[in-house]
Amino acid sequence: MKGIILAGGTGSRLFPLTKVTNKHLLPVYNKPMIYYPLFAMKEAGITNIMIVSGIGHAGSFLELLGSGAQFGLKISYEVQEKAGGIAQALSLTEDFANNEKMVVILGDNIFEDSLADAVKDFRTQPRGAKIFLKSVKNPKSYGVAGLKDGKITEIVEKPQNPSSDLAVVGCYMYDPQVFDVIKGLSPSGRNELEITDVNNFYLEQGTLNHQVLNGFWGDCGESFDSLMESGKLIQKSRLANLDENLSIT
Ligand code: G1P
Repeated sequence: MKGIILAGGTGSRLFPLTKVTNKHLLPVYNKPMIYYPLFAMKEAGITNIMIVSGIGHAGSFLELLGSGAQFGLKISYEVQEKAGGIAQALSLTEDFANNEKMVVILGDNIFEDSLADAVKDFRTQPRGAKIFLKSVKNPKSYGVAGLKDGKITEIVEKPQNPSSDLAVVGCYMYDPQVFDVIKGLSPSGRNELEITDVNNFYLEQGTLNHQVLNGFWGDCGESFDSLMESGKLIQKSRLANLDENLSIT
């Protein structure tokens, strides 16, 4: 199974912190933001990882992370020339995925839980996708899942009137059919190819599984407050002990 970390976008919600650097390189407690999704992959046994970044800062990622050897990872890089949404960034990894299943993590998302068991489960899921939900105070800022009898009925991107408080977090597991799904998408109101539309495709196909996260989830890119809050949560968690080789000491 391949790992994909999406680290594009302009980081406009964190301007001016993001004026001369990429959002995913900003500090979150004592590590650069992107260390956390890289660790989540590593802990789940995903070691062959592609990072997709915007054109402006691609060199900084290479300088910081190199080949990935020091972390026990193999890291490749791809450039998203223009911000076109999460699904558009994912479409750039088709050759890398090489017809394997994949785990996709947004570079500004932080997971306290280990994803190892979920990855193990997804390896045995015959086809389709798996997403993760977390109860949040501000569902309007996210993709939101409506549930009935424990089953997802709909996913709406940044709804005005959310039908639940369950955000769809930035970790997605897909089978290789995802690239055909993306080819069939049209841009949304914000002129992006939306990952929510991808997830809704799998929902309609009846192949979308989900899991609710127990531990904390942080979306550092959502606001200054979420960036600070994520740092504080990390400080009090096992992630505070992540070392520079991406092991927990
Ligand atoms: C994106 C997704 C949204 C998801 C969120 C998680 O939002 O579109 O569905 O809930 O990531 O971080 P964006 O960061 O593009 O606003």
